[in-house]
Amino acid sequence: MAMSLFRTKSIEELIRTANEGRTLKKTLRTWDLTMLGIGAIIGTGIFVLTGEAALTAGPALVISFLLSGVACAFAALCYAEFASLVPVSGSVYTYSYATLGEFIAWLIGWDMILEYALATSAVSAGWSGYAQSLLKGFGVEIPTAFQAAPGAISGVTTYFNLPAFLIVIAVTTLLSVGIKESTRVNNIMVVIKVAVVLLFIAVGVSYVRPVNWQPFMPFGWKGVVEAAALVFFAYIGFDAVASAAEEARDPRRDLPRGIIYSLLVCTLLYVVVSSVMTGIVEYPQFEGVAHPVSLALQVAGQDWVAGFIDLGAILGMTTVLIVMTYGQTRIFFAMSRDGLLPKMFSSVHPKFQTPVRSTWLVGIISSLVGGFIPLGQLAELANIGTLSAFTLVSVAVLVLRKTQPDLPRVFSVPGVPYVPLLSILFCLTLMTQLAAMTWYAFIIWIGIGLLVYFLYSRHHSVLHEK
Ligand code: ALA
Repeated sequence: MAMSLFRTKSIEELIRTANEGRTLKKTLRTWDLTMLGIGAIIGTGIFVLTGEAALTAGPALVISFLLSGVACAFAALCYAEFASLVPVSGSVYTYSYATLGEFIAWLIGWDMILEYALATSAVSAGWSGYAQSLLKGFGVEIPTAFQAAPGAISGVTTYFNLPAFLIVIAVTTLLSVGIKESTRVNNIMVVIKVAVVLLFIAVGVSYVRPVNWQPFMPFGWKGVVEAAALVFFAYIGFDAVASAAEEARDPRRDLPRGIIYSLLVCTLLYVVVSSVMTGIVEYPQFEGVAHPVSLALQVAGQDWVAGFIDLGAILGMTTVLIVMTYGQTRIFFAMSRDGLLPKMFSSVHPKFQTPVRSTWLVGIISSLVGGFIPLGQLAELANIGTLSAFTLVSVAVLVLRKTQPDLPRVFSVPGVPYVPLLSILFCLTLMTQLAAMTWYAFIIWIGIGLLVYFLYSRHHSVLHEK
């Protein structure tokens, strides 16, 4: 029994399974993958959570973004090595199956379901806030009870976040009819999103008053690191690029590029945006603000541009939803194909060539969670799921270098063992900054995962049948 926990799939076998029978269309190139990455990355993190983070770090928020960015860069390099080795669906879950064995792979896959499901739900809640504020501008207001999750607005009785629910259902419908169409829509929206961020920088920069950057670090390093653990959410998503491996034309070349390019672009934008924001507005003014980026332009008296930013933020968050839901269905698909989740979820629709059942299952769960749970809690939980997965992938790089040193690595992490070790150190440090409640929920989630694994997955695993 102990041995079977560590049974592994060989990398060749993984690739063979991927090429047999249930195949997905191979249509994505470096450009699409980079766009997929940016599409997943820029969203609620920068458009909504920055306000709260600015209250914790002050103008030194820019350092928090850099810290989180560096943590992700180390993890991204590890991801890229794996992605270029094992070009099949399922991202880090699949890679760990080939290196650390089935049990750890299960845990990682389970972590990633948490990451993607809750990131999707969190972003849908951020989307809902911006959409409602835009609708309000046109005089349309939905009934209070359906404006937010229970307990999301203090002093107001709300039951369900209806817009959050509806947007996830819409995205799920889009994804279930096919990746090609979704990619095209995604690319257009990403271009608009980046244009809006650049517009903010171009207009905002002339309103910066350096006096607002003083004192730079009002809450010391403690505040900076705490804020880094929150804005980490803004970087979640580059790993979704790796989960598209099976749909890439030349995954060994294009995946590492897609991951690294998208992370670089976003880090640069975040650093500039957060400096401009805190340069225009004195940081205490961000208290309770759900649209901090457009607030900065309102303070600057640029209401029209602020309106465009709102619109761009809505589109931007829609692309995040598309990529997150997409990534999540592909992990589900991979786990089901391996027999760890029921086989019915790995069937591919004959006409659309998409895993329709897993797409709808995860879509329905994320939409309901986004309807019932407030944004802040969802973001922290998504962060802990992601950071634990990043830690494990960095460990896996080290293990694989020792156990299978001769594999053809199209992309190699430089500076092994230091880069993976730094990745582990940064991720664990950020995890220690998250709330106790987040840790409890995480431990419960892992507990449920263990039950499912020992009661179901172990016995239904494709490797078990052999
Ligand atoms: N990084 C994504 C966002 O900020 C999840 O919305």
